[in-house]
Formats: sequence, C-alpha cells, structure tokens
Amino acid sequence: MPRTPPGGRERPPAAADWYKDAVIYEVPVRAFRDSNGDGIGDFLGLIEKLDYLVDLGVTALWLLPFFPSPGRDDGYDTADYTGVHPDFGTLDDVRAFLAEAHRRGIRVIGELVLNHTSDQHPWFQRARHAPPGSPWREYYVWSDTPDLYADARIIFTDTETSNWAWDPVAGAYYWHRFFSHQPDLNFENPRVREEMLAIVDHWLDLGLDGLRLDAVPYLYEEDGTSCENLGATHAFLRELRRHVDERYGDRLLLAEANQWPEDAVAYFGAGRGDECHMAFHFPLMPRLFMALRMEDRFPIVDILEQTPPIPETAQWAIFLRNHDELTLEMVTDEERDYMYRAYASDPAARINVGIRRRLAPLVGTRGRLELLYGLLLSLPGTPVLYYGDEIGMGDNYFLADRNGVRTPMQWGPDRNAGFSEASGERLYLPLITDPVYHFEAVNVAVQEADPGSLLWWMKRAIGLRRRHPSLARGTFAVVPTPNRHVIAYRREHRSETILVVANLSRYAQWCELDLAGDAGRGVAELFSGETFPWITDAPYGLTLGPHSFLWLRLETIAARTGGQAVVGPARRPARRARRR
Ligand code: NOJ
Ligand code: CA
Repeated sequence: MPRTPPGGRERPPAAADWYKDAVIYEVPVRAFRDSNGDGIGDFLGLIEKLDYLVDLGVTALWLLPFFPSPGRDDGYDTADYTGVHPDFGTLDDVRAFLAEAHRRGIRVIGELVLNHTSDQHPWFQRARHAPPGSPWREYYVWSDTPDLYADARIIFTDTETSNWAWDPVAGAYYWHRFFSHQPDLNFENPRVREEMLAIVDHWLDLGLDGLRLDAVPYLYEEDGTSCENLGATHAFLRELRRHVDERYGDRLLLAEANQWPEDAVAYFGAGRGDECHMAFHFPLMPRLFMALRMEDRFPIVDILEQTPPIPETAQWAIFLRNHDELTLEMVTDEERDYMYRAYASDPAARINVGIRRRLAPLVGTRGRLELLYGLLLSLPGTPVLYYGDEIGMGDNYFLADRNGVRTPMQWGPDRNAGFSEASGERLYLPLITDPVYHFEAVNVAVQEADPGSLLWWMKRAIGLRRRHPSLARGTFAVVPTPNRHVIAYRREHRSETILVVANLSRYAQWCELDLAGDAGRGVAELFSGETFPWITDAPYGLTLGPHSFLWLRLETIAARTGGQAVVGPARRPARRARRR
C-alpha cells in the first residue's frame, strides 16, 4: 500500500501521470530569495515567492541540492543526504515550504545525487580508514592502479585528467566520474543500495513529489566498457522504481542521462516502463539552437526521427538551458565546432564540453526567445524552464565554473535587485550589472508593469500550453513543407489537434502544407483566438514573419458549422460537408 506522508492531505490531488501535464521550473534555493539578510537564498524566501510561480503558471519546482555540503560543486558534493544546509534553513523550513507549495497545487521535485558523495561525507572518511575488503571500505570504488576502466571518458575535461585520484590515507586510488573531491559510491555493495533506498524514503516520506536522479548512467563500472548505461545500473533502477511505486504510488523519477536517444530511452525501462517516468532529452537541446542559427529545421526533425518510441507511461523532459553549461556532448565534432563558432566565439564562454551562458544572451532577440519557447512548449515532452530565463536574465561568464548562470534572481530595480537585504558584498554571487542585462532594467517588477514584456508573454504561452492537453500528451507527426526554413508538426490528443508552424529564419517566409486529410476543418490561432481560412484539398498556405510561429487548433467540422463568421475559402468545404 502506498504510504501517505505527513502533510499528505495537503498534496495536490493524486494523478499517477501528473508529470505529463507539468510545467517544471528549475530553481536553486540559494538564488531565489534571501529571507534573513545573510546574502543567501533560503526556504523561507522561496515560500515568499511561491505566488509569483503560481502566477507564472508553472506546476512543479525542481530544487537543486539543498543538503549539507562543502559546496565545491554547488551541493552536488553531498556531505549528508538527509539534512538541510544551514544556509538554506532547517528541515522544518522544508516541511513548511512543501506544505505551502502543495497548498497552491505546486509539486516539488528534489535531487537524488546517487552516483557520488563529497570526500567530506562520513562514509568516505570511514572508508579511507577501513581495512581493504571490509564493507565500510567498499562503500567506494578502490584500486591499486589508475589503469582500470580506462575506456571511461572524463566528464569535467577542464579540471580533471583522470577518473582516479590517489588517497594517501587509504593508500589506494578511488574512482570519481566528476570532480576528484566527489568519490563515486560503489553500487556493487548492497549496503550502498540500501542506504540509497532509505534516503529516498526519507524525502518521499517528507512529501517530495519526485526525485531527479543525478548522473544516473554511471552507477556501475565494468572493465572494457565505457562504464555508462550498464545492465547492472538498469537493474538497480528497476529495483528503485518498484520500491517507489509500492510505497508511494504517484511519485516521479526523472533521469539525468546525458546520452544519445537510443541509450536515453533505456532509462524508461525500454518497452516496459519499469525504470524512470521521465528522462531529459539531451540531444534535442543543442539542436534547437542549431536549427535556429542554421535557419533550417533539419537538426530538430532528424533527432526526433532518431528518437525511439517510449513506453505509454513515460515522458521526455525537454529544456533549453539549466544550471550547467549548455552541454555539447550529444553532438558530432562538426556540430560542436559549429555551436562554438555560432554561440561562444569568446573562449571564456566555454567550459568543459559546452557553453556557460544563459538563454537570452545566447540568442539575443525577443523574437528568437519566443520562437524557442514556442517550440519548447509544443514539442513532445514536459518543458523544464530555468529560473530567470522567463524574464530574459543575463549571465557573467567571468565568474568561476558555472556560477555565471547561477546569479541572484532579479526581482526589482532596487537594492540587490530585491533578492536580499544584505550589503551587496555579502551576496553569494554578484548581481548581473552589464549594460544590456543590468538588474535595474531586467527584473520582475519592471516586466510585471509592462503587458508587452517577455514575462507576460511567457504567462500567456504557459497558460495556453496548460489549457491544450494535446501539447502535453498528444501524438507527434511532422507535417511536410518544401520550405526548409519552416518546421511544422501536429500534436493530437483525443478530439484535439494542434498544428505548430514555426519560421526559423530571420526573414519572412511563405510555406505550403499538405493538409488535404483535414479538408473541411476550421483553423483557429491560439494566442489571438483569430480564425484562419478553412482547410481545403489545396495546399494550405501561410505567411510567417521573421522568427515567428503559430499554434493553430484544427476545429472539427461540427464546430465550424456552429456558425462562426468566416471569409475566404471557408465556405466551400462547408457546403461540401453539408452535401455529404
Ligand atoms: C550533474 C549536475 O547537473 C551538475 O551540476 C553536477 O556538477 C554533476 N552532475 C556532478 O554531480
Ligand atoms: Ca538567507
């Protein structure tokens, strides 16, 4: 029987596949709002801003790690899996936050950093002193030589030269896929697996609605392989899913597997749907940026064609930006060169295998931002938005690591952008003050007051997405058009059909779509509610402004004969329909 958590009564109504209709907002607690003036965002500050998030229209929050940690990888270096970092508040603050979020119908997804800990975690301190072969030692992966698992790639190429680090206390090398201060846990050890399940229970009992499984492809190692996506890793995920389903029912597991589509779909439990409910579509993300710059639909259509079907219960998580670099691991060498040339001509903007910039500075114009969001909110998958991108926040790639995209949220034009009452020097990171993206110009208050702002546009777009279930759950099919600058596709769910047509070019474009199968149907544009000409047997022609897109609802013939006044070719098919 699923367990009801304390505060369970306040959780939003159960719906086993709620994640399919979700609009997720990614937020680092420390970046959102500082309630106590110490310069660091915290849970009580996040509570203050929940109404803003409700108003924006998001339905779920994904919180970055908030656990005790030395903070050398922004909390992905865990020192205690069940506590709360004192900078962010207490466990009671988390409980209060969950109750407030749930009261507003907002679900909350946390992090499960299961692949590795901080070297400050008591498990590692105990392991390095424990005799080789003992269960305590075996919490981590040790070796006498750094030559084992030589086929595993290095992920943080800017800082690490090996996946092994020497520990003088243990007198052995330990395995780490990320920073050398993040030793990998040894999932071969049943105690490690038990510890993880207990951590899952801790947070799901408290009321979290889901967990993002950080760096999940790397749980197991095997010599002679890339040490990614191994069968044992999938077996553990099946065990985890069973555990969560049996005890909690409607909670979400979201895989962070930066992999090619055929390997990524395996995280759904290929065919069976018995691993994660959702997985990020990493290869799609850079191709949205490529298509925009090339003014050609090919990269998007091609990767979606290469994406195998997914189980009925599964859903992709799709995104434009997040707290990491815009990763270019899932592109070819030529595509990577192109992306660097197009989006990061300054080498300082590059880090590891990617680009450390936010969405607005990457693409520049409002038109391009709306176009990318128009695609993100209508392509198959649940959209994940990154905090601050809804107001077009800027970045600062001269800050260390990926900190340039993690600066304080910009609430208003006044002191510390309304983020904190601390003196400016105490802020955990400096505010954005370059002339174009200065917080005095780019902030929530200014955009709230301007109905023409990006923020207001985002609210409208998110609202439409939520009102039209085919955008969330619908089937997907590309609609052919000879003009390669234009991408068109249809999403269908039950009786609703939505046609998306987007112009990737900076110039106006004409396109013709073969919609003969829909002849007789009316067409309504979603943002305006305006009626377009009926569909006939002839190619359906549309003129699109530079970087513009249309979300068109195809109406049923019955709805059309309901008597809306229309002009042009509309009447002909209407008569034909009557004759039939
Ligand atoms: C993926 C996270 O998104 C990233 O921020 C982190 O550095 C690595 N995992 C290591 O935990
Ligand atoms: Ca604080």
